[in-house]
Amino acid sequence: MMDMTGQPIVMALTKGRILEEVMPLLAETGIHLLEDHKKSRKLIFDTNVAGLRIMIVRGSDVPTYVEFGSADIGVVGKDLLMEYGEDAFYEPLDLGIARCRLMTAAPVGAPAPRGRVKVASKFVNIARRYFAEQGLQTDIIKLNGALELAPSMGLADWIVDIVDSGNTLRANGLEPLQTIAHISSRVIVNKASMKMKHNAVSGLLKELGDVVVNRSESRVPIS
Ligand code: PRP
Repeated sequence: MMDMTGQPIVMALTKGRILEEVMPLLAETGIHLLEDHKKSRKLIFDTNVAGLRIMIVRGSDVPTYVEFGSADIGVVGKDLLMEYGEDAFYEPLDLGIARCRLMTAAPVGAPAPRGRVKVASKFVNIARRYFAEQGLQTDIIKLNGALELAPSMGLADWIVDIVDSGNTLRANGLEPLQTIAHISSRVIVNKASMKMKHNAVSGLLKELGDVVVNRSESRVPIS
């Protein structure tokens, strides 16, 4: 049984698809919420591990809670970390779950836009950096969701969005162009917690890391 060695730890998890993949991974380390999060409106839960509490928030808020130390540890997509700025915390572990790609996309068969390209995205910092590196003149337009509508509604030439199966792009007459980054869920740690709560944090990281290694080994075919 894991032991927080007297150092209380708060872990911030991203709700939604990542959460559904993180819960089984936590279960493999022996960590369970004391209540079913699907049946509760609570946002913070006790666990069977003394001293370990788990909060469930929007992915874009996980880096904020961890940077400022309200949470010691977080699990969040690499896309949101790249957007937030990656110097604010440590990122010791790639959980290898919720894999997808961050891509540019445009209407199927559309000619390359002339002059400045209008790009709609939730990921405005990533988009700005990426197109600057490409030496492309762009106007970046911030949207909070349903990006795939922007080109057909005349708001943007391109979008920058998460692509998993590609179904959302296809259903909206779009095609992927370039891959900006391969995305998966990462564990982040508050910088002070890494020092002040070293035993508890490193114990938890070791357990999670072991599960990741076991899972990747069990995927290798035995000849
Ligand atoms: C993401 C993304 C796309 C969709 C892509 O949204 O913004 O809309 O998934 O997946 P697909 O390639 O398998 O169709 P998500 O469902 O994560 O919700 P969000 O809009 O809140 O990001």
